[in-house]
Amino acid sequence: MLDKINETTAFLAPLLDGKEHREVIILGSGLGEFAGNIAARHAIPYASIPHFPVSTVPGHAGRLVIGEIEQRRVIVMQGRFHFYEGYSMQEVAFPVRVARALGARTLLVANAAGGLNPLFRAGDLMIIEDHVNLFPDHPLRGANDASLGPRFPSMAGAYSPRLVSLAALAGERLGLSLHRGVYVGVQGPSFETPAECRWLRATGGDAVGMSTVPEVIVARHAGMECLGVSVITNITTAHAHAHATSHEDVLERSRAAARCLSSLLREVLRAL
Ligand code: HPA
Repeated sequence: MLDKINETTAFLAPLLDGKEHREVIILGSGLGEFAGNIAARHAIPYASIPHFPVSTVPGHAGRLVIGEIEQRRVIVMQGRFHFYEGYSMQEVAFPVRVARALGARTLLVANAAGGLNPLFRAGDLMIIEDHVNLFPDHPLRGANDASLGPRFPSMAGAYSPRLVSLAALAGERLGLSLHRGVYVGVQGPSFETPAECRWLRATGGDAVGMSTVPEVIVARHAGMECLGVSVITNITTAHAHAHATSHEDVLERSRAAARCLSSLLREVLRAL
């Protein structure tokens, strides 16, 4: 693992022009719009980066953008990897390891999620305050390399309270109505049954999605500060008669909300 991280880091490091890139930003399904605002110095397809998995989901462009926005140098993953694609949890979170090795200290992660909280509407944004990990595996399972982080990392404050407040204030300045809540990470790829939705809600979930948890766990293991934002692309079928969710539906909703997300991320970057 360390060898792979070092090789990928050695490949990407020259593209940073010797400048500090503190933030790594991960954009999910249909949320790539933010990347269009970046003065990109480099846009590297994942396929040409050593040891990077290749994204297989429609709607994920699959490239690493290195550039500048709001006067900050950033590393942006346009398209991410999912456990349901067949990658291991370690593979899904590998780019976070690389970003940390390149000097990133902050992870800003966005995802598409289904709303469990009855107050949520499709197209809303939710700042993640905490998560519940329901993935059947763990990115830190196996031997721990102490040079990467501790054996038993704390997940208290995994979603930085400082960044949650900063994002909430940024949202207020922009006039966005933002929710805050708990993101439940599940393996997918099937959407939840109505019974599962009721169970996830009853056990404390506000939104449910198939990503983010592995990346945040690895980022916390590596001592990074994390901010997560969910785009509520659909209201989950908590009631048996609700409409079925389709991937096209998810993509369409998330494109509409992508503009709000994009302004929120820019405002957060300005405020950092
Ligand atoms: N469930 C799980 N993941 C999702 C959903 C959902 O309803 N919507 C977008 N990602």
